[in-house]
Amino acid sequence: MDIARRKPNFVGKVAVAAALTVMCILVLKQSPGFGGTSVFSRHETGVTHVLVTGGAGYIGSHATLRLLTDNYRVTIVDNLSRGNMGAVRVLQRLFPEPGRLQFIYTDLGDPKAVNKMFSENAFDAVMHFAAVAYVGESTQEPLRYYHNITSNTLTVLEAMAAYNVKTLIYSSTCATYGEPDTMPITETTPQNPINPYGKAKKMSEDIILDFSKKSDMAVMILRYFNVIGSDPEGRLGEAPRPELREHGRISGACFDAASGTIPGLKVRGTDYPTADGTCIRDYIDVTDLVDAHVKALGKAEPKKVGIYNVGTGQGRSVHEFVEACKMATGATIKVELLSRRPGDYAEVYSDPSKIRDELNWTARHTDLRESLATAWKWQKTHPGGYGLT
Ligand SMILES: NC(=O)c1ccc[n+]([C@@H]2O[C@H](COP(=O)([O-])OP(=O)(O)OC[C@H]3O[C@@H](n4cnc5c(N)ncnc54)[C@H](O)[C@@H]3O)[C@@H](O)[C@H]2O)c1
Repeated sequence: MDIARRKPNFVGKVAVAAALTVMCILVLKQSPGFGGTSVFSRHETGVTHVLVTGGAGYIGSHATLRLLTDNYRVTIVDNLSRGNMGAVRVLQRLFPEPGRLQFIYTDLGDPKAVNKMFSENAFDAVMHFAAVAYVGESTQEPLRYYHNITSNTLTVLEAMAAYNVKTLIYSSTCATYGEPDTMPITETTPQNPINPYGKAKKMSEDIILDFSKKSDMAVMILRYFNVIGSDPEGRLGEAPRPELREHGRISGACFDAASGTIPGLKVRGTDYPTADGTCIRDYIDVTDLVDAHVKALGKAEPKKVGIYNVGTGQGRSVHEFVEACKMATGATIKVELLSRRPGDYAEVYSDPSKIRDELNWTARHTDLRESLATAWKWQKTHPGGYGLT
C-alpha cells in the first residue's frame, strides 16, 4: 500500500524537476551570453541588431518602437536613473518573440560592465541616446553632466571600436550652437555652447569626429531642436520623474498646468525682439525625430560622418505654444507673465535643408496643437506615468 502510494508521488517529482530543468534552460537560452548561443550574441545575415542606449527614456523608447516595427533587433541598455521600466515592458509586450528585444540594466558610467555587454552581444549599430539632459540642471551639477555625457560617450565609443561595431548614430542638440548671431541655424553655424549640457555634447561630438578620422566607422550626428509629442497610437509617452519637474520642458509644464498639478504656466520674458515678444523655438515631434534616426541608419556609410539638424525649420513663439496647449488640452490654463530668465535667447530655429536633401527627411507632424493633443491623450490615460519604474 505504502509503496503504491509513494510511486506516483516520486514520478510526479521527477516530472516537475524535469519541467523545471527545461524551463531553466529555455530562460537561460533567452539571456545574453548563454554559452554564446543567444541570438543577440551573433550577427545574422539580413538582421540589423541595434543597441539603443537610454531606451527606457522618452526618445529612446519611441526609437525602439520604430526600430522593432521596422524589423530591427534591439537591445536596450539603461540604468533607469531617469527612464521607465514601464516603457520597456510595453515594448516587451508588443514584441514578445524571441530575438526581437532584450533589456540590459547597466550603467554606461561603468566601463567594465559596458565592455562585458559588448563582449556578449553582436551589435551592428549603436543609437546613443542615454544622457542626463536638462540645461538648468547642468549649470547646477556640471561635473555630473561632463561625466554622464562626455565620459560615457567615450566609454561607448571605445567599446564600439574594440568590438568592431560599425555604425554610430549620436544624439546631439541645438544647445551645442549656443546663441548664434544669425537664424536659421545651419550645420555650419559656429558652435559656441553656453552651458555645461551644450558643452558636454559638443565635447562628445569632437571626440567622435576625431576618432572617425582614423576609423572605418559610419557616423551620424543628429542635432535635435525641442522635442515634443508622443506615439500617435498611444502606446508610449513622455514620463519624466516628478523630481525633475523644476527643470522640465515646456510640454511637461503645459500638461502639468492642464491637469492642475501646477497652478499655471509661467512665461518668462515678453519683451524679446520677436513678433509677440516671447521666445521662439523649433518644436520637433518625436515621431519625426525617430524617423530621422532610421533614415540616418539606412544612409550611414563606412568612414563617413554626417551631421544634421533635426528640426521643422519653423520657429514658434512661446505664446503660440501656450495657445496650442490650451486648445490641445481643452483646459483653462492660468498664464503668468514674468521677466526674462537669464541665459534664454530670443530665437532658435533650424534650417533643415541638409537633412532633407541628403537623407530625404522632412518633418511631417508640424501642427503644434496636434502633437500636443496626441501627447495629452497619453498623459490623461496615464496620470501616474508608466506606474512602474
Ligand atoms: N528631449 C529633448 O528635447 C532633447 C533635445 C535635444 C537632445 N536630446 C537628447 O536626446 C537624448 C534622449 O533624451 P530624452 O529626452 O529621451 O531623455 P530621457 O531622460 O527621457 O532618457 C534618457 C535615458 O538615458 C538613461 N541614462 C542616463 N544616464 C545613463 C547611464 N549612465 N547609463 C545608462 N542609462 C542612462 C536614463 O535612465 C533615461 O532612460 C539625450 O541624449 C538628450 O541629450 C533631447
